Amino acid sequence: MSENIQRKIRSFVMRTSKMTPGQKRAIEEILPQFALDEQQKFDAKKIFGNSNPVCLDIGFGNGESLVHIAQMQPDVNFVGMEVHTPGVGHLLLQIEKYNIKNIRIYQYDGTEVLKDCFGDDSIDAMHIYFPDPWHKKRHHKRRLIQDAFLEMVMPKLKEQARMHIATDWQQYAEHIQEVFSRFLQFKNIEAGNNFTAKPEWRPITKFERRGINLGHDSYDLVYYLNKT
Ligand SMILES: C[S@@+](CC[C@H](N)C(=O)[O-])C[C@H]1O[C@@H](n2cnc3c(N)ncnc32)[C@H](O)[C@@H]1O
Repeated sequence: MSENIQRKIRSFVMRTSKMTPGQKRAIEEILPQFALDEQQKFDAKKIFGNSNPVCLDIGFGNGESLVHIAQMQPDVNFVGMEVHTPGVGHLLLQIEKYNIKNIRIYQYDGTEVLKDCFGDDSIDAMHIYFPDPWHKKRHHKRRLIQDAFLEMVMPKLKEQARMHIATDWQQYAEHIQEVFSRFLQFKNIEAGNNFTAKPEWRPITKFERRGINLGHDSYDLVYYLNKT
């Protein structure tokens, strides 16, 4: 186990964007029905009332891709994690609009929630779409995907759990490949630890669209966990 496991990964900055009146109402009135408590153990059966697979979305932004995927996969329990309050408000308005039942939300640091609330073998899949790339070298330690993160999440993932990551920052994509190459338990679905084509069911996210307009490519990586 690396020494950094004890060190907190602070992968986000708290942005202070203003909320729209709709988002404000959503946080006040709708969030209590969908919010999960970061002080309590995650118990999927109790929370969702079923034994469906559990898929996390860490850093869902405004939640548009999470909503899209959750609507297409009603038999999966989705748990979104996001610290940006207007984004949470935006997601809640969509949950209300489309009457979505299979999403719950941690408005909290996903790494902390994972560490403290999730038990071993409790997660079937994890989506991490366009995590903050932390371009500057001195900020690389703030990247979400790093050895300490994989060491922490690995026991919590079920055998054959899927991790799907996408980024539009080539150097971060290469960093992710490098990190995973140190964990032989994670098998890339592509030969040579390579990038894969964007699956049709993953919508283009708001953040990704911004990158496309700047001429960035997107890089998808999919790994399956083989613990044995
Ligand atoms: C670049 S945005 C991408 C948002 C979205 N996935 C998309 O593709 O549009 C990254 C998001 O991750 C969130 N984030 C970063 N680290 C996080 C953490 N540890 N826990 C929860 N959210 C986090 C940030 O607040 C931000 O909204």
